[in-house]
Amino acid sequence: MCGIVGILGSHPVSQDLVDALRRLEYRGYDSAGIATVENGHLERRRAEGKLRNLEQRLLEDPLQGMTGIGHTRWATHGKPTESNAHPHMSDTVSVVHNGIIENFRTLREDLAGKGHVFDSDTDTEAVVHLITEELNNCDDPVQAVREAIAKLEGAFAVGIVFAGHDDLMIAARKGSPLAIGHGNEAMYLGSDAIALAPFTDEITYLEEGDMAVLRRAGAEIFDKDGLPVKRPAIRSQVSSFLVDKGNHRHFMAKEIHEQPEVISQTLSHYIDMAEGRVDYPDLGIDLSDLTRVTISACGTAYYAGLVGKYWIERFARVPVEIDVASELRYREAPLPAGGLALFVSQSGETADTLAVLRYCRAQGQRIASIVNVRTSTIARESDVVLPTLAGPEIGVASTKAFTCQLAALAGLTLLIGRARGTISPELEQELVQGLLEVPRHMAEIMADETQYEHLAHDLSKARDVLYLGRGINYPLALEGALKLKEISYIHAEGYAAGELKHGPIALIDENVPVIVVAPEDELHDKTVSNVQEVAARGGKIILISNGADDAAGCELMAHIQVPDAHPFSHPILYAVPIQLIAYHTAVFMGTDVDQPRNLAKSVTVE
Ligand code: G6P
Repeated sequence: MCGIVGILGSHPVSQDLVDALRRLEYRGYDSAGIATVENGHLERRRAEGKLRNLEQRLLEDPLQGMTGIGHTRWATHGKPTESNAHPHMSDTVSVVHNGIIENFRTLREDLAGKGHVFDSDTDTEAVVHLITEELNNCDDPVQAVREAIAKLEGAFAVGIVFAGHDDLMIAARKGSPLAIGHGNEAMYLGSDAIALAPFTDEITYLEEGDMAVLRRAGAEIFDKDGLPVKRPAIRSQVSSFLVDKGNHRHFMAKEIHEQPEVISQTLSHYIDMAEGRVDYPDLGIDLSDLTRVTISACGTAYYAGLVGKYWIERFARVPVEIDVASELRYREAPLPAGGLALFVSQSGETADTLAVLRYCRAQGQRIASIVNVRTSTIARESDVVLPTLAGPEIGVASTKAFTCQLAALAGLTLLIGRARGTISPELEQELVQGLLEVPRHMAEIMADETQYEHLAHDLSKARDVLYLGRGINYPLALEGALKLKEISYIHAEGYAAGELKHGPIALIDENVPVIVVAPEDELHDKTVSNVQEVAARGGKIILISNGADDAAGCELMAHIQVPDAHPFSHPILYAVPIQLIAYHTAVFMGTDVDQPRNLAKSVTVE
């Protein structure tokens, strides 16, 4: 992952580099660093941990260069120490890198044999010495980078500056995203347009295999064959304002509370209110003849996709294959002609998801993506983009993006079902109506959070927590467990309620809270039977359900009551209590809710 920036400016750039890095911290926050060209020399400052540590370092020991690069790291190779922090450099070359250089060991051995001395454990440092070696041979930075890049295997986006070259920065991408920003007698480089928003809205996205030579007067771009190429400059719509927390203590809380509004916006985008039916862009495929839908995604987006599978199979009667992208990309799964491949991604940059997209394209699938960032690589490589209107999501644990993904998937289910004749106009209207009530019900759930605060006291003492759900609520159990473990660090597992007796029941005792997602639907009684099995073994039950149901007389540790709602909308609605449970538990435990340890928001490495 990691975020990279670069500036060729007309005043000292270190503060601007730090500001841009702040917008990229969602890509990692293990360490940060910047390097500038000062009086012909390379100078750098680096610090372990969050960006504020680097800012402090710069206050004590400022940098004055007007050409510089910066980096915020999510550690892959080497511990998150200062010596492993980027930029890495030799006397002549400094590099920031996002991605993984897979052949770094061979390169390192070779370069060490030629006398290069390494002082970090990173794969990136091999790139520095490789370019330095090429530069020793040819004395031309552009040629040196070209030669070096040809020898790299893996995925990378790099920004490079050179001692003695104040008006030069070279960038290259293969696999990882990279954008160029055009300024007035200034040029910018960034992992995304958000980083560059305060400086310019004129953005050029580099394509696979591109190398760009930036000078203050402009950029020359070369394609993967080394030929000069023109890439369009577009006006970015990204706001230059840093999104703030409003009155909330954390971005996660703000984003949970934004859900009624952003769900409304996403639903309005896909629903013709006057007709009470869904209104989607043409997917460019005959949906009435659809043989299969293949869904792929990672993390929380994968669980949204899993809900989509339950919906599409049940209501539109089309078989759905779903797998996490890191598995599907290597499974060589056969995909029948005429299939629709659907990708779900908040960032639109997740490396594994993108790789599956390319595999599915090669297999002749029609590519549709549900993304929150419309300018992302996944969006740009899709035949049809179905945007979520969640707005920027800053908290690493996904909340509003998840429920907006569900809203888009629910509508898509209706679209496919209508085309296939499995959903009548009356049923469509009924289900649309159910969806339109979600924002109101969500607001009701969030009206009083005291019971979540109380529950947090008890949950914080647990070492393990189980989440159970059945049918379409099973993905919610998985998502609930993910949410809790990623921000509170309590071990949590989600299980299909019926699977309890095949293993996890062995864990149940009075110290293991079991959170059960059990709305009153047609499977409710079966889930309650599983709750009884937990109660019989002394487990502590937290029931999330509607109605006055008390799980057939079981003693409950808590009963989180959810308003009555149309069962079609349950997965969207029941996402809110599981988010609030995780949030309040993490707050009570004092963890870093918005930037939990070891995680990053956008995962652009395998
Ligand atoms: C990371 C994030 C998760 C996210 C997943 C997929 O793990 O921390 O919140 O669900 O990546 O990201 P995407 O941007 O593809 O939805």
